[in-house]
Amino acid sequence: MSGVNPMKWENEKLYLLDQRVLPHTETWQEIDSLERCHWAINVMVVRGAPCIGFTAIFGMALAIKELGKIDNSKVQEMAEYLKSSRPTAVNLQYEVDRCVEIITKHESADIAYLELVKFGLGELEISHQKNTKMAEIAIEELDNTLNKAKYRFLTHCNTGYLACGSLGTALGVISHANAKDRCEYAYADETRPYLQGSRLTAFEMAKENIPHSIVVEGAASHLLKNDKVDAIYVGADRIARNGDTANKIGTSTLAIVAKHYNIPFYVVAPTSSFDLELAGGSEIPIELRPVEEIKEYKGIKIALEESGAWNPSFDVTDARLITGIICEKGLIKPPFTENLVRIVESENS
Ligand code: MRU
Repeated sequence: MSGVNPMKWENEKLYLLDQRVLPHTETWQEIDSLERCHWAINVMVVRGAPCIGFTAIFGMALAIKELGKIDNSKVQEMAEYLKSSRPTAVNLQYEVDRCVEIITKHESADIAYLELVKFGLGELEISHQKNTKMAEIAIEELDNTLNKAKYRFLTHCNTGYLACGSLGTALGVISHANAKDRCEYAYADETRPYLQGSRLTAFEMAKENIPHSIVVEGAASHLLKNDKVDAIYVGADRIARNGDTANKIGTSTLAIVAKHYNIPFYVVAPTSSFDLELAGGSEIPIELRPVEEIKEYKGIKIALEESGAWNPSFDVTDARLITGIICEKGLIKPPFTENLVRIVESENS
């Protein structure tokens, strides 16, 4: 693995690189119980839809080991508890449900525990292959449509190794292009208020020698108007059947600006981020986070006590603003209502 590794399984415990204090401090948090796992996801020691899902697998493994027996109603309780740690990324629900399926196939908690650990490690491994495939599809699409020797990218939030435990989705496209000497320049949106862009994406770009700059979200229009970006790539926390996509707050604003300036706007996400049970984006639960994330920075107050704040962590980008959605099974182009379910449910991967 060439990127920053956000998680490791060692001595029957999960270790998570604490993403709250990057890039200046590298600290690992030891996760040895279901409660610690819930905490780590909730306070965002670990974040990014795929990594939240992988962490949950190890959380369920630790939980069944502690329970010491297969008790279906207790297992269901543990699953619901873990799912409640963050509501928007469907990967969490998806992986926890798969864990419950594995557990209930076994009669011994010890064996179920070992199976879940094997499953978690396997998922991390497979995710690298899936992300590489998505990156290849993305570059092929760029070559088919723009056909340049090198591309200039803009991305939002963090979708790299830190979010995926492997190459990454949207940032994976940029890393892949850079590794092939096809990245002229990359812009990382700062991503208020948690600063995933300036703290995490720029950190990953620096480690991978990707030529880059951080921009504030408000710079998007100026950047695109002045022809500094060929294509925009973002990740997803949940994609509905019609292609509406929930991703980090600010994604939808970026897509609207991209449409205005006619810049291709792509979503890159594994099939585990699709929720085919939802007809449209209005059904996606949007997480509201503490207002302190807006009113304070590292404990320093930056707004008056009496000012209110509203902190939705995600927004939904309307499908009609999206040029294409790339998953490991292929490129999904509009009309999404016809093409999305067909490709996501297809056998090839
Ligand atoms: O709140 P976060 O940092 O978990 O939000 C992360 C994002 O919105 C990512 O873009 C998304 O999870 C895709 S990660 C490949």
